[in-house]
Amino acid sequence: MERLDKRLASTGQWSRKEARELIRTGRVWVNGQMCSSPDQKVDKTAPVTVDGALIEADRPVYLMLHKPPGVVSATTDPQQPTVLSLLPSSYRRLGLFPVGRLDKDTEGLLLLTNDGPLAHRLLSPKRHVDKVYYLRVNGRLDEEDARAVSQGITLANGYTCLPGRLEVLGNAQEAYITIREGKYHQIKRMMAARNKPVLYLKRVGFGPLTLDKSLPKGGWRSLTIPEIDALFRQ
Ligand code: URA
Repeated sequence: MERLDKRLASTGQWSRKEARELIRTGRVWVNGQMCSSPDQKVDKTAPVTVDGALIEADRPVYLMLHKPPGVVSATTDPQQPTVLSLLPSSYRRLGLFPVGRLDKDTEGLLLLTNDGPLAHRLLSPKRHVDKVYYLRVNGRLDEEDARAVSQGITLANGYTCLPGRLEVLGNAQEAYITIREGKYHQIKRMMAARNKPVLYLKRVGFGPLTLDKSLPKGGWRSLTIPEIDALFRQ
């Protein structure tokens, strides 16, 4: 048994305060009966509806975050703000974690979830999920760079990257790059191997997901059902 307000808040959709307000205003029903007392204890398996829609506690959550620079892709850090600190407190109890990492100074699309098996699949080196980044370099990118990326750049430590794709943009200092693996500082090291150090890096695509242009830096939203379906088909 658990308190009704706690059960609602555990979905991450409402804070405890918002949940209590929903309950008091008669919008929450348990086992087909309206329940207006937030401290009512309910069975963990009892069906609970809000405005007629069934809520599921402990359901998996999938969020798209527009990571700003200056936060680390971790769940906890003794010194620095983490990507989780950008979410409301009600979301911090859901066991969310970032799927993969972006460097502290890298911006852009980061998937947050509490679905361990899906994250594991998406990060598996065998699965080769495409990651698309916009980058700006110190130097001018050319056809040679595009060819090197498509053949697999060899990093300073001797590792040869899987073939990727470099689409150089108008002024030759900017490009989109698609890679299918996620080695530590991979793009910075690839561009360093070309003597064109990265000045700015932003992830705009992850598998079937595209960074939502309406999300400001630090903004986030739940994935839509088609986006979640596409991740599962990846
Ligand atoms: N490659 C990098 O160098 N940094 C990132 O954050 C992501 C890919």
